Amino acid sequence: MDATATATPFSTLIRTASHERHTRAETSTFMRDLLGGRLGVDAYARYTEQLWFVYRALEDDAEALRSDPVAGPFIRSELMRTAELERDLTHLRGADWREGLEPLPTTALYADRVAECARTWPAGYIAHHYTRYLGDLSGGQIVRDRAEKIWGFTRKGDGVRFYVFGEIANPASFKRGYRELLDAVNADDREKQRIVDECKRAFSLNTAVLQELGEVFPLSA
Ligand code: HEM
Repeated sequence: MDATATATPFSTLIRTASHERHTRAETSTFMRDLLGGRLGVDAYARYTEQLWFVYRALEDDAEALRSDPVAGPFIRSELMRTAELERDLTHLRGADWREGLEPLPTTALYADRVAECARTWPAGYIAHHYTRYLGDLSGGQIVRDRAEKIWGFTRKGDGVRFYVFGEIANPASFKRGYRELLDAVNADDREKQRIVDECKRAFSLNTAVLQELGEVFPLSA
């Protein structure tokens, strides 16, 4: 392992390594159109449905990972999003939102990879955990603000509950604590590098979903 990896805190390493891909996700056509107010609430609902599949994969096996020496410290009930997504979807689609709901192909691939890591490679699961939850605590708040303004959801209410972490009073301090957990991760340098690679893959899986949503909701349609 090179000296940089050893000297640099892991939280910095993973953040720096994913920076370029973050920009790609953030500036995807779908995100720009959605947050620019150029797409209808159906596109927002469709995006929220994709998140539900991903968070089910992240959270269905989370309980079993609580006692894992590597992933265990990251499992925190205040982060869990499935219940919030289900309330949002009930608001957006109605009580029978689950009926006939299928993930987009890219979403299915993403959720399958998360579930595979959760079951067979807890360190890899951390990469997916970081990519989603730290993002939701950061840029997610921008998305919430835009969604409230564009589609008129009640501030922090139904439709945007996914973005509201009611049990995290101070997101900045929570994120600091999270980075400390990353820095103390129970893995050697080789394994840390594999986690970084999995994080890049997690970003690519997100970008693929956004790309597919962009094809489902082209502006010219
Ligand atoms: C319009 C979409 C997005 C916006 C506006 C946005 C914005 C932001 C902002 C402002 C930060 C804080 C950076 C800082 O602390 O200096 C952040 C962090 C982050 N975002 Fe995003 N983001 C978006 C999409 C995404 C997506 C799609 C993902 C991946 C699923 C993602 C994952 C992350 C992660 C993991 C962090 C934490 C980086 C770290 O501090 O280690 N973001 N984002």
